[in-house]
Amino acid sequence: MSKTILVTGGAGYIGSHACKALARAGYEPVAYDSLVRGHRAAVRWGPLVEGDLADRTLLMATLKQHRIAAVMHFAAFAYVEESVREPALYFHNNVINTLGLFEAMHEADVAQIVFSSTCATYGVPERVPIAEDAPQRPVNPYGEGKLMVERALHWLDAAYGLKYVALRYFNAAGADPDGEIGEDHDPETHLVPLVLQAALKQRAQINIYGTDYPTPDGTAIRDYIHVQDLAEAHVRALQYLESGGASAALNLGTGTGHSVRETIACAERVTGLSIPKREAPRRAGDPPALVADPRRARTALGWQPRLSDLDTIVATAWAWHSARASQAAPARGAAGS
Ligand SMILES: NC(=O)c1ccc[n+]([C@@H]2O[C@H](COP(=O)([O-])OP(=O)(O)OC[C@H]3O[C@@H](n4cnc5c(N)ncnc54)[C@H](O)[C@@H]3O)[C@@H](O)[C@H]2O)c1
Repeated sequence: MSKTILVTGGAGYIGSHACKALARAGYEPVAYDSLVRGHRAAVRWGPLVEGDLADRTLLMATLKQHRIAAVMHFAAFAYVEESVREPALYFHNNVINTLGLFEAMHEADVAQIVFSSTCATYGVPERVPIAEDAPQRPVNPYGEGKLMVERALHWLDAAYGLKYVALRYFNAAGADPDGEIGEDHDPETHLVPLVLQAALKQRAQINIYGTDYPTPDGTAIRDYIHVQDLAEAHVRALQYLESGGASAALNLGTGTGHSVRETIACAERVTGLSIPKREAPRRAGDPPALVADPRRARTALGWQPRLSDLDTIVATAWAWHSARASQAAPARGAAGS
């Protein structure tokens, strides 16, 4: 019988791709999402339980009724700038609600979890590429909250045997190659969709924050990882725990960084369009370069990114964004007529 996996945040960007990867690997994903920042239409590979992590009664009932074998925990707020303005909101949702999930799992005897952590737990790194044992010194409440959860997991494993894999993603990007799901955040803060929205004239231009970084072209460098590669790494992490693997924290990145200018140039190549750009000062707290040392995940999980070259990331994202724009255009016209 196939195992049922609770996917918190399963109506969100990465969680919905994980549901698809789980279904493809023979699991039954049950998405648990309040839809506060997710989309009902993204839940296509199993049921949606519409509820908040804070609703302990519903959470317990879901764990029991669906005979949940393990959890993938994506549900969180994920805007760095918002976390600086509203730290209490972030600590409440990303830490307190997450601890509530762990308590519910303990009560329901569910002892395996794959947790969405982030490279933001490293803060401004002393060197790149960043290995997992690099100092974790977050520079915003978002990264701080994720680190708190990592620390809690460590102690819950020691006391109760809760086995976890904390996956520290670098920059998730791209869309489902079949075009079924993609990135749909509001507001959008990630570079690839912002550049493509500028290409589609949905925004006036793309802002380049910082052109005087100590990088080859002066703009900031990030490690982009295709969302389907991330989703597949989650399935591997689950299988690793099922086969008795020890709890671990693993980077998910490619080990190759791309600058903002390179990413814009790639988008111009892929779309065949000229993208208006505006140079702006650096933003506080933006490190010059964040690039993963990805070796530990490759060894532990036997996982390799397959779609994470920049052209494939941008091409799959472009297919998703341009298809949605052309679907939206007639609807807008009809509404106005
Ligand atoms: N996108 C990235 O590049 C990136 C990088 C590192 C880490 N992460 C982490 O990955 C996870 C998923 O990110 P994403 O980009 O898919 O975000 P997302 O906003 O698209 O998805 C998060 C989902 O969680 C749901 N949610 C939030 N709080 C909830 C609550 N209290 N109860 C029930 N549902 C709730 C939202 O409705 C949403 O559907 C997050 O934990 C994020 O911190 C993302």
